Amino acid sequence: MKKLDLALILCLLAGQVFPQSAPQLGKDKIKDVVAAMTLEEKVSIVMGMGRNSWKNPKEGKPTVIVPGAAGSTYSISRLGITPTILADGPAGLRIIANPDNADGTRYCTAFPTATAMASTWNTDLEENVGKAMGNEVLEYGCDVLLAPAMNIQRNPLNGRNFEYFSEDPVVAGKMAAAFVRGVQSQGVGTSVKHFAANNQETNRHSINEVISQRALREIYLRGFEIAIKESNPWTVMSSYNRINGFHTAENYDLLTTILRREWGFKGMVMTDWTSGTDWVNQMYAGNEMIMPGDKKQAEELLKAVREDRLDEKVLDENVSCILEYILKTPRFKDYHYSNKPNLKENALVALQAAEEAMVLLKNDQNTLPFRKVKEVALFGKTSYHFITGGTGSGEVNYNHAVSLQEGLENAKYKLTAPLKNQYVNIIDSVLSKKIDSVKTVGGKRKFAIDRMNEINLSDELINSSVKTSDIAIITLGRTTGEGSDRKENDYFVLSDAEQDMIRKVCNAYHAAKKKVVVVLNIGGPIETESWKNYPDAIFLAWQTGQEGGNAIAEILSGKVNPSGKTAQTFPVKYADVPSSSTFPGEPSENPINSFYNDGIYVGYRYYDSFNVKPSYEFGYGLSYTTFKYSDLKLSSPTFNDKMDVTVTITNTGKVAGKEVVQLYLSAPQDKIEKPVQELKGFAKTSLLKPNESQTLTFTLDGRALASYWSGISAWVADAGKYEVKIGASSRDIKATASFNLDKSTVVEKEHYVLYPDRYVKEISVKDKK
Ligand code: BGC
Repeated sequence: MKKLDLALILCLLAGQVFPQSAPQLGKDKIKDVVAAMTLEEKVSIVMGMGRNSWKNPKEGKPTVIVPGAAGSTYSISRLGITPTILADGPAGLRIIANPDNADGTRYCTAFPTATAMASTWNTDLEENVGKAMGNEVLEYGCDVLLAPAMNIQRNPLNGRNFEYFSEDPVVAGKMAAAFVRGVQSQGVGTSVKHFAANNQETNRHSINEVISQRALREIYLRGFEIAIKESNPWTVMSSYNRINGFHTAENYDLLTTILRREWGFKGMVMTDWTSGTDWVNQMYAGNEMIMPGDKKQAEELLKAVREDRLDEKVLDENVSCILEYILKTPRFKDYHYSNKPNLKENALVALQAAEEAMVLLKNDQNTLPFRKVKEVALFGKTSYHFITGGTGSGEVNYNHAVSLQEGLENAKYKLTAPLKNQYVNIIDSVLSKKIDSVKTVGGKRKFAIDRMNEINLSDELINSSVKTSDIAIITLGRTTGEGSDRKENDYFVLSDAEQDMIRKVCNAYHAAKKKVVVVLNIGGPIETESWKNYPDAIFLAWQTGQEGGNAIAEILSGKVNPSGKTAQTFPVKYADVPSSSTFPGEPSENPINSFYNDGIYVGYRYYDSFNVKPSYEFGYGLSYTTFKYSDLKLSSPTFNDKMDVTVTITNTGKVAGKEVVQLYLSAPQDKIEKPVQELKGFAKTSLLKPNESQTLTFTLDGRALASYWSGISAWVADAGKYEVKIGASSRDIKATASFNLDKSTVVEKEHYVLYPDRYVKEISVKDKK
């Protein structure tokens, strides 16, 4: 062999051939870049590089680009294709804080959980939270935030409810859209997840959710539809579960017919991490990216192309879609990230969000805000060890979280010392134990306290606290997390020790004519009915991130007026939850199918239609001021293409405040059964001073009037009288007006897809005894 030939072969082997002529991503057409790829390269591109690291044998030494990021995509330098980094999650960026790193620390801001954010009902604020998170994503060198998570909170025992917004798809959809707009305004992407019906953690990789087409369209897909249409997320993450027989990642009807054809989604779909079983089908379904990706999957795809089980054209289309995504990323654009996001400013956004998220559930005789309170007796372990959020991929590695103890001390309240000492000593002793299984955050053992039983207190300690303090606060805490659901008895109802604490503390303080406030540091509804009469005030603090303690102190002291309202129902008892008898599926010891016999009757749609009284209804929350609702006006007495609804809100109290205003619609019951009312819009006023008014406008379009009629696969608005109800909550309707629709109308025709693979008998108001 001549010397020259040998040199050429060596050059080829080193992948150095065509250095000038190979098309380059960003400079040449995507189709030319794809045409220049080997089959192996194409398969690599539709696959992530494995969890937590970027290991590319062809590109040199294994490298970790952003420690703790959930995944990354493949690079091919000869074609100018850069890697990209994807990191969780909904309440803040999740990467390893890495304090010893030469770059310095990489702590992230822990924002309120999605459930808490939904309670703000403030889409502008949610957009700001998105912007702040996007800033951290960008400056820590990531390209996509794996959020928002927006499944419907169908059952309070779902371990991941804290990551989700609401039981209502309009709230979930609007909040998610605002979040996506905020994050993406920073030049990084989002991944709207988990598409779809990922409503439980039990057997999440295999569970078959059996859901009627109508319930899917109206409840479980609707929020995603709103988010996709209103915010153009860069990516969508398909979910682990099956819907009506098929894994979502392998479901063409879900990912292509509905998501792309009907809703116009233009971005990339990725699997959830290690999701599904048939990667060839994922390619056909329109799930372009397999995450986090592994060798076995790559080999299977290569084999499938070689054996003609996977059409290379399909692979090419998926590769093109991924390249379109890579083109948008900061890493491709060679953005020089600083590792120094605006942590100070972002902490202020987190504080503002926490202030608006908290909900005042009860406030007898104006117990709150504090008046003449100097010393506070803080009961409950959670008061000293606040819960910022849930566990799993939704965790955030923050630097410091403010507990209620710290928040009150920051606000210059004295805390009853013997009580505080008792709690702090016990907590410190638990935290100092070497428990390897307990993860640490900011040097603290995070979950040990959350999962420990409530501490029993002696009567002497309670009585001595009554003497010195002006008021008592009891905090109840709950954590839930990814990977498992909770049980009624270990989560929803109060433990004996908690009930005992409430009873004893309330009796002792009331005997001394002093008040008691219960603070709920929880991620979703728990039982409140049996004990809510004991305390004078109940304050739902939710899990509101690192600034939670400061935000509560500001509200208790009156510096901030609470304006949050629940975006989910607090049922009287677990048995009242419409899905309680079927969750988490059958057979109950190891469920295979989960039958959604609650159909469209999820949350308030059920409680209101079936006359089941909740403990706290959907949309509920008190304020330190009062509001008057007046001048409800409709733009026309009959509906044509749209209807404007205006209403004026006036602050009639003595302090400034914001009011969440909800628009419910009752549609005529004609061809198909309907809930008695459904939320079709919401708005939050600006901070209104006493006597100040604001006029809010809502717009109803055809879809707002329509229900999904499975028989003809269409959104149909029935002719007749529609009642507009403007409420301070779902059960506190302040003003009503009505309009007519003259002719039944097919508002939108859809594809006949996603029919249940087995029979599901849905509940109906007609069966009500
Ligand atoms: C979760 C996703 C998350 C992914 C990456 C999965 O287990 O379901 O929500 O984005 O892990 O961490």
